[in-house]
Amino acid sequence: MIAKASQLFLPTLREPPADAEAASHQLLVRGGFIRQVGAGLWSFLPLGWRVHQKVEQIIREEIDAIGGQEMLMPVLTPFELWKQTGRDYIDEIFRLKDRKGADYVLPLTHEETATFHARELQSYRQLPTLLYHFSIKERDAPRPRGGLIRVREFVMKDSYSFDRDEPGLDAQFEAHQRAYARIFERCGVKAYDVEAEPGMMGGSESRDFLAPAEAGENVIVFCENGDFAADIEVARTIPRAATLPDALGAPEEVATPGVTTIDGLAELLGIDPGATSKAMPHVTQDGTMVLALIRGDDRLEEAKLAAAFGEPLWPPTDEQIKEAFGAAGGSLGPIGFSGRIVADFALQKGQYVAGANRDGFHLRGVEAGRDYEPEFADLRESAATDTCPMCGGTLRFESSIEVGHIFKLGTKYSEPLGARFLDEDGREKALVMGSYGIGLGRVMAAAVEQSHDENGIVWPRSIAPYDAHVVVLAGAEEIAQQAAETLSAAGLDVLLDDRDQRAGEKFADADLIGCPIRVTAGKKSLEDGKVDVRDRASGDEKRLDVADLGKEVA
Ligand SMILES: Nc1ncnc2c1ncn2[C@@H]1O[C@H](COP(=O)(O)OP(=O)(O)O)[C@@H](O)[C@H]1O
Ligand SMILES: [Mg+2]
Ligand SMILES: [Zn+2]
Repeated sequence: MIAKASQLFLPTLREPPADAEAASHQLLVRGGFIRQVGAGLWSFLPLGWRVHQKVEQIIREEIDAIGGQEMLMPVLTPFELWKQTGRDYIDEIFRLKDRKGADYVLPLTHEETATFHARELQSYRQLPTLLYHFSIKERDAPRPRGGLIRVREFVMKDSYSFDRDEPGLDAQFEAHQRAYARIFERCGVKAYDVEAEPGMMGGSESRDFLAPAEAGENVIVFCENGDFAADIEVARTIPRAATLPDALGAPEEVATPGVTTIDGLAELLGIDPGATSKAMPHVTQDGTMVLALIRGDDRLEEAKLAAAFGEPLWPPTDEQIKEAFGAAGGSLGPIGFSGRIVADFALQKGQYVAGANRDGFHLRGVEAGRDYEPEFADLRESAATDTCPMCGGTLRFESSIEVGHIFKLGTKYSEPLGARFLDEDGREKALVMGSYGIGLGRVMAAAVEQSHDENGIVWPRSIAPYDAHVVVLAGAEEIAQQAAETLSAAGLDVLLDDRDQRAGEKFADADLIGCPIRVTAGKKSLEDGKVDVRDRASGDEKRLDVADLGKEVA
């Protein structure tokens, strides 16, 4: 097909929006692919929608290939379904009422609705079943940013698998891992398949597909030896060994006037900051105080915190702290605190300096198990000085965009929603489920982040808005048209730039829009019947006969 630029809605811009930092945000707006309508709300203009549809078709082919059945579930969803699964507390849910006062949500994902339909699966003979759709997701994200990277409304491909048992689920999960690897490869996006945190989705195991990009919000932790890679939200790496002072028979109080930081405390006592512990109080939804305890030189990883406590937590107010601990932040510790304590694994062995729950005092020689009874969990953020849990190797950290996320849900949704089936042994059981998401706009953003230069986007051929961009210079209209037709006949999608603009502007737009091949017809073409063919990625240029174009570039 041939699209004429003169007739397209293709508003390109020389300058990026003032607030755009991410390259994909700048280039997708400048290239006329997307426009912002409100915070985190974007329209796909015709060129952007072509890319989106190409991504969609690749995903469709690969999910169909593993047995997926495409359907469509509504966006507007009865709140009742979300109450039944207990996901009604989530802050990011948009809620609304209809004119009769009935409650609805705009779903973050469609687990509830998919499980609602799965109630019609009755026998093991109908399993496994894999359903999927492409549909709008809504999320009241507090800080939309980065163009398509974090938005409040987007199209997701979400699939839902229903099985008899765990081995069945494992097989669907692995099929999705392989399908996702093919999807990202076909889209020209480099993405790592790593262990991840299930978060609000719940379930037993999850994996993220992370596309390395500076503008991304996720961090991948890699081992230099290639035997370990995980999302930092779950990466359990080995902390450096701290130098601990000699053990004490019982905790001893020490005055630490004016000390409010770990570094200040370590300096005053002349010890390694890793020989201290840091108390991080939080409150649950009903206001109950709980305590997370990590080594003094560590940072708390928020995703691990929520996972360890099994519920979302909030920062307490100064009054709540005073009431629960009898002291202010800076002198808080586990001894004497009566609520739930979760300590990081790093504190399992040895003695540490801890707050005394008395302003201006700390305790030396505080030992978990002897002086307080915590639960242990992984709470700390992987640090640059950590080593690989598999081989002890050095770690590397890379920013990335989460383009896909897959979950083993088990019976978390089928139990409360009553999605049961009759198994071969005559017993009724809950369906064993998995769910699998990909954000299409995120894939576009990741492709641009990974593939652009100072002049614009360099689209992977598979998802480019057009395969070829034919630039028509004054006087060469006829031969340009011939070139476009030859390319189109060879099966390429062609953008014919027949606009009444200067050559320089057309070339700048061609680079910005980023189609893989640029074909230029100018005055000289009239003499020799040849056109300039330039490869967007490499910049290589050759002059070809119009008649040979098709077989050269197809
Ligand atoms: N705010 C968002 N903006 C754009 N895409 C998103 C957003 N949130 C999620 N996605 C896409 O949907 C996929 C599945 O999301 P999910 O894992 O359910 O959400 P989250 O990672 O926010 O908990 C993600 O891997 C990503 O591709
Ligand atoms: Mg996710
Ligand atoms: Zn390693």
